Amino acid sequence: MRSHRWDVSGEYSGMADLVRLSLSLPQPLLERLEGLMQQQGYTNRSEFVRDMIRDHLVAHEWQNAQQETLGTVTLVYNHHIRQLSEKLVELQHHYYHSILAATHVHLDHNLCAEVILIRAPAMQIQQLADHLRQQKGVLHATLSISSTGVHLA
Ligand code: NI
Repeated sequence: MRSHRWDVSGEYSGMADLVRLSLSLPQPLLERLEGLMQQQGYTNRSEFVRDMIRDHLVAHEWQNAQQETLGTVTLVYNHHIRQLSEKLVELQHHYYHSILAATHVHLDHNLCAEVILIRAPAMQIQQLADHLRQQKGVLHATLSISSTGVHLA
């Protein structure tokens, strides 16, 4: 595949502790990156890449964190699947001390949506989300992680 050198150096002369970096990317990946950069209003490649790296580091950091985090799990599932509703309730009861709220919505004759708000160490939230997702009949599960605010300053 054709590779394209994408020079991310920017106008950071005078910023002594910055390291200049260049990388090679396949052309289609470069085009998608350039598109995303424009879409998000970046005019500076370095700034775009720095933000992207920070986002990635934050996303990785919380997964290993023991600190308390706020998580929201959204499930879509078919309640006709045998024992599924019972299993989902039972799993949530294992985490009753961490679950702040849960909302159930009947989407149609077959499908249910459930939104569960959890306050716990990030790893526990991930564990619960994984267990819920793995149940047969769960069609979609998403986890979003937020902060309890303590470390947001
Ligand atoms: Ni329902």
